[in-house]
Amino acid sequence: MLLLHLTFIFTNLISIVFGTSVTPSESSSSSVNPPASVPSGFVTTRGNQFVLNEKPFAFVGANSYWLPLLTSQDDVDATLKSMHDAGVKVLRTWGFNAINGSELAGALQSGVTYYQVWNSSQWELNDGPQGLQRLDQVISTAEKYDIKLIVAFTNNWVGYGGAELYINWIAGAGNTHDVFFTNPQIIKSYQSYVQTIVNRYKSSPTIFAWELMNEARCLGDLPAGPNCVASKPTLTTWYRQQSDFVRSLDPHHMITTGGEGHFNWTKPATYWFNGTLFSDYNFNGQAGEDFERDLALPNIDFGTYHLYPQTWYPQLDFPGSNFTVQQWGLEWITDHANAAARVGKPLILEEFGVTGLQNKTAIYPTWVNHAIQTQHAIFPWQFGQLGLKEDGGNRLIKYADALIDGASPNDGFAIYPNQTAVFNIFTNAAKVQARRSQ
Ligand SMILES: *[C@@H]1O[C@H](CO)[C@@H](O)[C@H](O)[C@H]1NC(C)=O
Ligand SMILES: *[C@@H]1O[C@H](CO)[C@@H](O)[C@H](O)[C@H]1NC(C)=O
Ligand SMILES: *[C@@H]1O[C@H](CO)[C@@H](O)[C@H](O)[C@H]1NC(C)=O
Ligand SMILES: *[C@@H]1O[C@H](CO)[C@@H](O)[C@H](O)[C@H]1NC(C)=O
Ligand SMILES: *[C@@H]1O[C@H](CO)[C@@H](O)[C@H](O)[C@H]1NC(C)=O
Ligand SMILES: *[C@@H]1O[C@H](CO)[C@@H](O)[C@H](O)[C@H]1NC(C)=O
Ligand SMILES: *[C@@H]1O[C@H](CO)[C@@H](O)[C@H](O)[C@H]1NC(C)=O
Repeated sequence: MLLLHLTFIFTNLISIVFGTSVTPSESSSSSVNPPASVPSGFVTTRGNQFVLNEKPFAFVGANSYWLPLLTSQDDVDATLKSMHDAGVKVLRTWGFNAINGSELAGALQSGVTYYQVWNSSQWELNDGPQGLQRLDQVISTAEKYDIKLIVAFTNNWVGYGGAELYINWIAGAGNTHDVFFTNPQIIKSYQSYVQTIVNRYKSSPTIFAWELMNEARCLGDLPAGPNCVASKPTLTTWYRQQSDFVRSLDPHHMITTGGEGHFNWTKPATYWFNGTLFSDYNFNGQAGEDFERDLALPNIDFGTYHLYPQTWYPQLDFPGSNFTVQQWGLEWITDHANAAARVGKPLILEEFGVTGLQNKTAIYPTWVNHAIQTQHAIFPWQFGQLGLKEDGGNRLIKYADALIDGASPNDGFAIYPNQTAVFNIFTNAAKVQARRSQ
């Protein structure tokens, strides 16, 4: 989920996809699988399954991008302990955090985490105690609690220094978002950072997988350009190039896209809204992603997709809308399970959420059951922790992210352990997954 999706909302209306037959964009065959022999404790894949130490590895994961932003090691420890107690086996977090040079003085004063700062001619790495050493702490504490990590290399959105910072500094103001995927200097800069992160942790079995980008799309907080459209494989080319690059650095860890799972069907879903027939952005390739083709790339080891019907389809609440958040989500889960089965690789429902405790309580059991029955690992967005102690439990981190009375940041989607009806949906699912992992 990320901040500032607004430009997108209005291009992305109601979808009426129920009963539409799946039309894969191309017949994809199962491609090269990762090395058969990985070091002990590394997760790998076999067909549609994850495998750990020769056994199937099914699990419930957690999303927490804010863990490396905590300044108190006791709070990091307490959070990973409560994830462990909830049965979480894999944590997804951000391995990026870049700031503008103009933000440096403030960052040094407030102690906010940053890994790279633009010094007016290039990125300077911060591998000190306010930088990558915080990520080190999260990873070593996760290891203590038997939790592995998916680490994302950058963000499609501006939050915590994603693609738009590379574009503004390297390509210059006035460029479109998709320049991130094609500009050779930007690619070099991205790869240089990726290499730093991969080399730092590549021998660690605590890394579950590398993720090329959170939610890559043709558009970001900057608009898409004319060269990144449904007919151009801009993102697929980038995914191929970057996954091959990461594989050249690290032969053993799995690699995934981090994409939202947009399809590029030859007959995309359409729907009527307010008297107009719309082609659905989630199915027509306009986002730039082609879920099935990208999953078939030789060094993409498993698929990811996200699920936020409320924000994707605000028209759901328009009078006369004839489908629901719950129904749309179930269909989206089925569509991805079918596509992953055709490609023959595992699949993760990597982020999902609805706002409102009642909505969560009503909808999550159906989504979670359906995902688990269709062999998914699931990562709800996002883990909530109570009782954080740093700064007395109250601290503004950055943007709207804040600790309030000891509670971790809440964007409307956080699930705290005191919300037992919702929290238990996931602890129960974790038990089901654990039984399948024997
Ligand atoms: C600095 O970074 C923020 C995002 O963190 C961005 O919105 C802003 O435009 C940047 N400033 C410059 C001058 O690039
Ligand atoms: C920026 O950082 C690079 C690499 O650390 C260094 O070579 C260069 O002199 C720095 N430039 C400025 C303007 O500080
Ligand atoms: C529905 O269509 C009418 C007529 O074109 C237009 O005035 C109105 O703004 C539209 N409503 C929405 C929510 O798009
Ligand atoms: C969508 O599929 C078409 C036909 O296979 C292909 O030409 C196009 O590049 C794809 N678009 C994207 C965004 O991957
Ligand atoms: C909603 O209405 C459209 C147009 O009549 C129809 O094609 C679609 O199947 C309906 N969807 C549901 C979930 O009933
Ligand atoms: C619950 O979901 C409905 C449908 O999307 C939405 O209108 C409503 O605002 C949600 N409730 C809360 C408290 O977010
Ligand atoms: C759970 O904790 C959150 C965050 O402190 C708080 O807002 C909420 O009221 C609590 N809910 C219950 C049921 O105690």
